[in-house]
Amino acid sequence: MNVDKIREDFSVLNKGIRYFDSACMSLRPKQVVNKITEYYNEYPACAGRSTHKLGNMVSDEVNSSRRLIKNFIGAKKDSEIIFTKNATEGINLLANSFNGEKVLLTDREHNSNLVPWQKFKQGILRSNEDYSFNLEKFSEGVRNYELVSFVATSNLDGYTLPIKEIVKIAHENNVKVHLDGAQHVPHNEINVKKLDLDYLSFSGHKMLGPSGTGVFYAKEELLKNMKQFIIGGETVINSTYNDFVMEKLPHKFEGGLQNYAGIIGLGAAVKYLSKIGMSDIHDHEIKLRNAVDVSGLKLIGNNSGSIANFNVPGVNYHEVATILDTSDNIMIRSGRHCVHSWYNAQNIEGSARASFYLYNTLDEVQVLNEALNKLKKLM
Ligand SMILES: Cc1ncc(COP(=O)(O)O)c(C=O)c1O
Repeated sequence: MNVDKIREDFSVLNKGIRYFDSACMSLRPKQVVNKITEYYNEYPACAGRSTHKLGNMVSDEVNSSRRLIKNFIGAKKDSEIIFTKNATEGINLLANSFNGEKVLLTDREHNSNLVPWQKFKQGILRSNEDYSFNLEKFSEGVRNYELVSFVATSNLDGYTLPIKEIVKIAHENNVKVHLDGAQHVPHNEINVKKLDLDYLSFSGHKMLGPSGTGVFYAKEELLKNMKQFIIGGETVINSTYNDFVMEKLPHKFEGGLQNYAGIIGLGAAVKYLSKIGMSDIHDHEIKLRNAVDVSGLKLIGNNSGSIANFNVPGVNYHEVATILDTSDNIMIRSGRHCVHSWYNAQNIEGSARASFYLYNTLDEVQVLNEALNKLKKLM
């Protein structure tokens, strides 16, 4: 993987910034930005309805994007890919359609995979002492639920669940599995067909795609039985004053005119990632995280994947973020990272989080280490 070459595609990096906040939102390469511009300059029309030349061009581009994403996650059919505005919308779509009573979650769900389930009876599966997944407790208890909805890779500490085992055990107990893939899909190879995964939600903006893009995946037979969430134009093929006939998949879930520029840009992002290779990207991120000098830091959670989450003893986490930004153009996130429930349960006020992606370098991590060392010495 040629990181220097990759960096040339991200013009914002010319500003001398060290961007370690990709778990919140990734940067975008020129290939994505150019594709968005191409839409607005060359075929700024709507897909699926107008049969003029521009309309047909948009339809072709949207179809091609859907196909790219289908291949990227290893789904069976294009129609299993539903475009959303973010991961949160996908999770709400599923929660709105859920007609069971009991959902099992982990103890470190992002608010987006916690709050939509609070109207049901929730079980919270506690992690082991080392913050890893408790497969034994899961095997014992899963039969009491109709659905498990788990964060595949945590935005808190980068920890990835044993997904294969979870799906297998859940299915042996006739329980369906939804994964919040917002932090997983941008950093790992995934094949929903091989995993036999039932549902998956993820964001486009964390994987080089435009903001306001996301994807919801479900097996076709499950999608067919799901309730529509947003209905109106595009979701029906006919209507009377009192009734309507529902569109087929995937359109029955894509109400109103869509974010065509975003959808097409997301296709370009997936093409870009696929060309580099998810396994190389993942390995690179692990090297970066391992290069963080954690001596003297109070680590938060499991410290895995592409995320280093920590506190510098004696310095408030917001101050850590501000000092790094001001002194060395290092951009990290501070706070509770939308996992308030976990911080409350652990009695931790907040923390500073550096999250890495394919365009970060070991030299940048070195600058982070030096800046943190200065801070540690001050205390
Ligand atoms: C683990 C996880 N789940 C869900 C979300 C929500 O994603 P979105 O902003 O695309 O709705 C995030 C965003 O940070 C996340 O990290």
